[in-house]
Amino acid sequence: MCGIVGYIGNNAVADELLNGLKNLEYRGYDSAGIALNDNKKIAVFKASGKLANLKAVLHEKNAKNCSSFMGIGHIRWATHGAPTIENAHPHLSNDGNLVLVHNGIIENYKELRQKLQNHGVLFHSQTDTEAAVHLFAEEYKKCGSLEKAVRNALPQLKGAFAFVIMHHAEPDKIIAVRKNAPLIIGCGKGENYVVSDIPALLGKVSRIIHLNDDEMAVVKKDEVIVKDINGQIIQKELEKVDMVADVISKNGYAHFMLKEICEQPSILRKVMQAHVQKQKICLDDAKIVVDFAQVQKIVIVACGTSLHAAMVAKKVWEEWLQFPVQIEAASEFIYQTNLLDEHSLVIGVSQSGETADTITALKLAQKYKAQIMVLTNRIDSSIVRYASSVVPLNAGVEISVAATKSYMAQLAAFYWLGLLMAQKLNKISHDDWQQKLQSLIQLPEKIEEVLSHQDNINLIAQKLADYPAVVFMARGFNLPTAYEAALKLKEISYINANAYPAGELKHGPIALLDENMPVLALFEKGETAPKLLSNCEEAKARHAPVIGIGGAKCSDIFDAYIETPEIEACFSPLLLCVPVQLLAYFTAKALNCEIDQPRNLAKSVTVE
Ligand code: F6R
Repeated sequence: MCGIVGYIGNNAVADELLNGLKNLEYRGYDSAGIALNDNKKIAVFKASGKLANLKAVLHEKNAKNCSSFMGIGHIRWATHGAPTIENAHPHLSNDGNLVLVHNGIIENYKELRQKLQNHGVLFHSQTDTEAAVHLFAEEYKKCGSLEKAVRNALPQLKGAFAFVIMHHAEPDKIIAVRKNAPLIIGCGKGENYVVSDIPALLGKVSRIIHLNDDEMAVVKKDEVIVKDINGQIIQKELEKVDMVADVISKNGYAHFMLKEICEQPSILRKVMQAHVQKQKICLDDAKIVVDFAQVQKIVIVACGTSLHAAMVAKKVWEEWLQFPVQIEAASEFIYQTNLLDEHSLVIGVSQSGETADTITALKLAQKYKAQIMVLTNRIDSSIVRYASSVVPLNAGVEISVAATKSYMAQLAAFYWLGLLMAQKLNKISHDDWQQKLQSLIQLPEKIEEVLSHQDNINLIAQKLADYPAVVFMARGFNLPTAYEAALKLKEISYINANAYPAGELKHGPIALLDENMPVLALFEKGETAPKLLSNCEEAKARHAPVIGIGGAKCSDIFDAYIETPEIEACFSPLLLCVPVQLLAYFTAKALNCEIDQPRNLAKSVTVE
């Protein structure tokens, strides 16, 4: 969950590390730190909170005057131990010579800690990571080689890790090693980097090496040698960085979140151009090896926003394919009885492709010999290794912690897949297929219309910001949109937002309603609309302010209304997610919240 940067080369090391960490801040911002290996000693600088605090520390301590050619840096999302300076990385061995940064979780850290303490090793933090640094240091004492020490220590570590390690006595190399956590080597001329994710390399290098599990890289200024766990050299291919620096710029928008919301029509257009050729669906960039005719069960596993996209897929696919689809929160799937076999298709959905819960669920599905497909925005991510079929989302890098454009891309991928399956299984007539295709083609324009109503949405948000809690309700295809709306609002504005099937309100939650509890209702075309309107009347009768979203305004009872262009009910989740994203954005803005980096969160959750 944390971000790691290592640098070796002739540039100002602290600046290189800070620059890389800045572009990884979406991975965590509880604390930050760097370590520089200068001629005299390893110098460690840390601060709790965001990178700006670390910058102040570096300035105060004149860190940039350190004559160093290599260093490592870290940005933390706290798992074990509060976000204090003691718990911040890098962690240093007691002799002050070995230093490391870590992303992941050492599961057996308590046993290791006990064992090391029994040998007299002193601990200074509450982290799981500290057990690793002392373990490496003890191994170093025995063999006097960093590479060997790391290799000897690795079998003693359980869990997930990406480590970048330096030793004061070996000032020509950084060691990088990983298992179940991402690590990429950026290869330059006379300089090399080790990072958790590509944004940290943008504008720096154009060639990279993806490190795999149980691989170790010895990174020097002029060479990178990758070895397996036994020390055998592995020939790795240099890959080209295919990301442009533009993705990490706000391009004039106040926040990445607003930029990413506004990118949605162009993402859909791009995906559409790639997917529809000569009136046929060609998911050319996807690798799909599933024989849909043989599939007897579909299960979709995901977390958070991705889970909401899966919920939409269930509703749409069940209608289009007349086939039962099961949805599971990945974190629950792992601990329940799952009736799977080789005729089951298990689909994992993950923007980051690094979500530990989703990956663990897929590993479990593998054990049942289920066919596995993943939908991910990062085809270079860990999740891809567990699937035979891979559908890229093509949303581009998402920097804002709150997912928006990746949700849209996930929905779009599910709709395209649904059409593909309907076609392959002969579940759709030609006319119906044409009509559905038209609905998808018209979608970007409709989203643009919603985006043009930002002023109205902003006005409503200013009022919403005054309430401590709100309720979203919906019926039909947009119940998942209501869940997503509530998640978006609470994660960035900290307003307590809950979502319910509108018909469920009268079975309990209606007790919450009074003039201090706004109710937001998501309308779609069809038989659910009049029922939902009755639920709005019920809320109004309890003096709750009622805000309607969707279609043309169908009554005067609303205190405010956000109109959206007309669209067939089954496609409306693709449209209605946009006003609720904007509503969350403007409400958080009215409350002066840290929109792109909400408290306690990080972009990818690589711990279970
Ligand atoms: C909310 C959000 C999270 C993620 C969840 C899964 O805005 O972003 O709920 O959706 O952590 O992440 P991925 O999709 O990367 O597996």
